[in-house]
This record gives sequence, C-alpha cells and structure tokens, in this order.
Amino acid sequence: MNKEHGIPVDRVSLVEMGPRDGLQNERSILSLDKRLALIARLAESGLQRIEVGAFVSPKRVPQMADSAALFAALPRRTPIRYGALVPNLQGLQAAMAARVDEIGLFTACSDGFTRANIGIGVEESLVRFAPLVAQARSLGIRVRGYLSTVIACPYDGPTRPKRVAALAERLLDLGCHEISLGDTIGVGTPGTVAPMLDAVLHEVPAGRLAVHFHDTYGQGLANLLPALERGIRTIDCSVAGLGGCPYAPGASGNVASEEVVYLLHGLGMSTGVNLDLLAATGQWVSEQLGRANGSRVGQALHARAQARRQGKPDEITQGECHGS
Ligand code: HMG
Ligand code: MG
Repeated sequence: MNKEHGIPVDRVSLVEMGPRDGLQNERSILSLDKRLALIARLAESGLQRIEVGAFVSPKRVPQMADSAALFAALPRRTPIRYGALVPNLQGLQAAMAARVDEIGLFTACSDGFTRANIGIGVEESLVRFAPLVAQARSLGIRVRGYLSTVIACPYDGPTRPKRVAALAERLLDLGCHEISLGDTIGVGTPGTVAPMLDAVLHEVPAGRLAVHFHDTYGQGLANLLPALERGIRTIDCSVAGLGGCPYAPGASGNVASEEVVYLLHGLGMSTGVNLDLLAATGQWVSEQLGRANGSRVGQALHARAQARRQGKPDEITQGECHGS
C-alpha cells in the first residue's frame, strides 16, 4: 500500500448522506424506528461517518423534524461519528443538546441558492457562521463546512472556480476542519469539475476537502476520478442514491454509496465497507420508501442474490474478475 506521512493514501473515507441528504427530499417520511434501523445497518456495513439529521426548521424540511429524538435513541459506538446540519444558533443549541459528534454548516457560492435555502445571502451566512464555529469548537465538536453550487446554481447560473476557491478558504479560516464541495444540482462533468478542484487546491490542501456530487446527469462517478487523481480522499455518497435538496429544483440524489464502493475497490482502494451488506441496506430502504433502487450496483447485487436463492448459475462481479 502507498503511504504518505504514515497515512495509507489508498484508504478513502466515505461520509454517508442517506439518512440526511437522502431522506430530506423523499416524499414518504420514514418513521423514527426505520431511520434508526437504516443507520444501524449502514454502521454495520462498515461506514464510520454518517450524517443522520438536520436541526433546521421543521416547517421547511419536515423529514428531519425529529432529529433530536433520533440522536437521543442512537447507539453510540466508537469510531462511528454521527453528524447533523445546523443553519443558525438555534440549530447549534439543539445539536449540542443532542450530543452531535460533528455539525455541518452550509452555505453556497451563489446568493440565489443560499437565499432560497437559508433565507440569507452568502456574505451574511459567513458572518453568522463565525461565532457558531467558535462555539462548537470550544466544546470539541468538529465543524464541517458545506459549500454548495460549486459548478452552477439553479437560480444564478454557472459558478467561477475562483469564487469556489475563495469561499472554501474563508470557511477553512473560520475554523471548519473540512470543506465539502457540493455540485448541488449534479450538472458538472470532469471537464468542469477538474478546473474547479485545481482552483480550490491552490488555497486548501486536499486533506481538508471532501467532494459531494449529486448524480442528476449521471456524472457523479466520473466526477470522482479527477478528485481522486488530485489526492482528495473523502467522498460524500448516499445509499441507493437517495435524495436531493428541496431548494435545488430538479436535483437528484448523491452519487450512490454502492457505486462509489464498487469503483474504489475496483481501483484497489480500501473503504472498510462490506459492499454486500451496504447493497442489502440500499435495497431494504428503497422498499421501505416504496421507490426503485437508485443504485445500479445495488440492483445488480440484489438480482444476483435473488438468483442465488433460486439456485440459478452465478454471474461474475468485478472482484472475481480481478481475483481479489
Ligand atoms: P427563517 O424563516 O429565516 O428563520 O428560517 P427565522 O429565524 O425567521 O425563524 C422562523 C421560524 O423557524 C421560527 O419558528 C423559528 O423558531 C424557526 P416560528 O416562530 O415560525 O414557529 N427556526 C428553527 N426551527 C428549528 N430549527 C432551527 C430554526 N431556526 C429557526 N434551527 C432557516 C431560517 C435556516 C431556519 C430555514 O430557512 C431553514 O430551516 N432552512 C432549511 C434549509 C435546509 O435544510 N435545506 C436542505 C439542506 S442543505 C443541502 O441539502 C445542500 C447540501 O447537501 C450540500 C449540497 O448538496 O450542495 C448540504
Ligand atoms: Mg447535497
């Protein structure tokens, strides 16, 4: 395994978005028990960072309304870290009371989206976040900074890479431990993602960045390649490709976790995730929500498991092709 400063560079950390970004945009609201079961299954599959809720207005995002009750019922188990979104002081106080391991503050590169999402412009959001980061950090809570619309905004149009870089640097300077770069509406391709990443990497080291690609145009997986090539090793993804943002019209879910794991294992990288368990969870949650499984890897593995149960001849998967 390649090593850089003692850290295995082939290890990729996945941040599972299904219970938050995934469920926030689903029409059916999962019961608390089912959300807990989903999170337990995701943890069981080996995922160690799971974003499970949001302390936002329940009128705006009813799917996340019972986040405090969810945190109260979660079994805490090292090294698993549970995160939640926080938009303001009221949200931070609720998150601290709920003993959240990590909070995610969220802003964007464009005023149009930020106003639709949290009711204020980008500059105002940074002013609002400064004391929140300081307060969270003083209590030892890690703060992730989400930067949305890094490729384009559904209201304001294309985003300039230099703007993304400048805002990512400002979030880092505020004290965020990590910046998650969001292609919120999933319109990027490697042709637009690579120059955006190059600009950001001028200001922020790869080790402090995560990528958060929505898969609206089916480019999520392709967009991971320029990120991996540039040394980024933290990837946001959502089981069964669930989700989207209610304030980003037309956006679909994050790149599916199953696809990401299949790709990374195929590249010889490690994730610590058991793909079969993850895929079974993706199929399970899709059935609970009454929707099609949005992961093609999940669909293939489900079909394979069904064929096995019926005693039909097995197909070959990538791991078997490579003999690993
Ligand atoms: P507002 O209406 O401007 O706030 O909302 P306000 O301060 O005027 O308060 C209005 C009401 O909201 C009051 O209640 C407050 O108590 C309540 P009322 O008196 O009317 O009964 N309120 C809250 N309730 C619970 N928790 C809070 C809170 N704050 C105020 N923290 C606010 C401002 C930010 C709250 C609102 O706009 C909001 O909740 N927006 C939700 C945004 C959201 O969750 N979007 C989806 C997540 S972002 C995303 O998906 C993108 C991401 O995935 C990255 C990417 O893909 O690019 C992260
Ligand atoms: Mg998102």
